[in-house]
Amino acid sequence: MEDEKKGTRLSRRSFLKGIGGGAIGTAVISTGLVKSDSAEGYSPETSGAGGNRATITLKVNGKAYRVEVEHRSTLAEVLRDELGLTGTKIGCDRGECGACTVIINGHNMYACSQLAVWMQGKDILTVEGLAKGDKLDPLQEAFIEHDGPQCGFCTSGQIMSGKALLMKNPKPDEAQARRGLSGNLCRCGNYNREVAAVLAAAAKSS
Ligand code: FES
Ligand code: FES
Repeated sequence: MEDEKKGTRLSRRSFLKGIGGGAIGTAVISTGLVKSDSAEGYSPETSGAGGNRATITLKVNGKAYRVEVEHRSTLAEVLRDELGLTGTKIGCDRGECGACTVIINGHNMYACSQLAVWMQGKDILTVEGLAKGDKLDPLQEAFIEHDGPQCGFCTSGQIMSGKALLMKNPKPDEAQARRGLSGNLCRCGNYNREVAAVLAAAAKSS
């Protein structure tokens, strides 16, 4: 029984780190997601037939990646398909569900609603960048302890919104935590546990 429990715990740890596996201009200010200054850094080297591709440098989780992308490619697509960072999920692909949330220059944003070519010079943090080696981020630990993931599809987005909140406000109250996660839909309706996890991580950081 203990082994079974441990096994469950380990698999949840791996899952969270890997939704976790390998590596948004929509403004939704009322939900805590902020407007991007996206187009500002748009100066890609154009290439490809018809000039529809660009070579850009993306800084993701502290590492620089030189990638060729289509002008129309979203950040979510490039993270997943070019960099193999599949912890960023695509749910609605239209700025509604929050599954694709990453942190850009300290703000939680929908990666499905940001063009990759807008991302030059910005610091992008994905769920894969939270753990330090085998040590999960305290917020990831709190999600495990509070059963934050049910089906898990929304979890990496919830964690990234929670992380962005804690980076700005290390001691949120419950209302602030709910607002911080309010741009992230959970089809499993597990909101109370996700909020509890954010509050627990905040309490631990004292
Ligand atoms: S996939 Fe980006 S908001 Fe739903
Ligand atoms: S845990 Fe299933 S969608 Fe949130």
